[in-house]
Amino acid sequence: MKKNTFLILTLLVGTILVSSCTNDSSADLSGIDELDEVTYTNTVKSIIDNNCISCHATTPINGAPMSLTTYENVKDAVLTRGLLDRISRAQGEPGMMPSGGTRLPQAVIDQVIAWDSQGLTE
Ligand code: HEC
Repeated sequence: MKKNTFLILTLLVGTILVSSCTNDSSADLSGIDELDEVTYTNTVKSIIDNNCISCHATTPINGAPMSLTTYENVKDAVLTRGLLDRISRAQGEPGMMPSGGTRLPQAVIDQVIAWDSQGLTE
């Protein structure tokens, strides 16, 4: 009987601790939503500039087939050239981008994936 009471008390305290960790403030939540919105201008452009345009330049070099220097270029590459697939490939897998380089950190890849799922906004 004493053991049962202890068990129930433990469950109760555990439940209270877990539920007190949530944040129901809608003001805070909407602030996070705004920060999470990925656009070409606020996020994707700098990722591409830092990792891709050494080959995918205005006039592409090193055998790269297209430029990735404008919003239209990058959006088109996501829609018709498999850009998400290329940056998601494993290190060393043929076709991985950046070609011959190091796979982007997963958090960076996730930002480009989020940009796509949020509608590829400029
Ligand atoms: C060292 C040069 C180099 C870098 C840096 C580079 N690429 Fe490429 N990219 C290439 C070459 C060469 C090809 C053509 C061969 C192929 O398709 O794998 C290519 C092809 C592609 C293709 C396929 C195009 C098609 O029509 O099939 C995509 C998409 C792409 N690159 C995206 C990227 C992205 C995004 C980055 C940066 C994260 C990047 N590349 C960085 C050289 C590069």
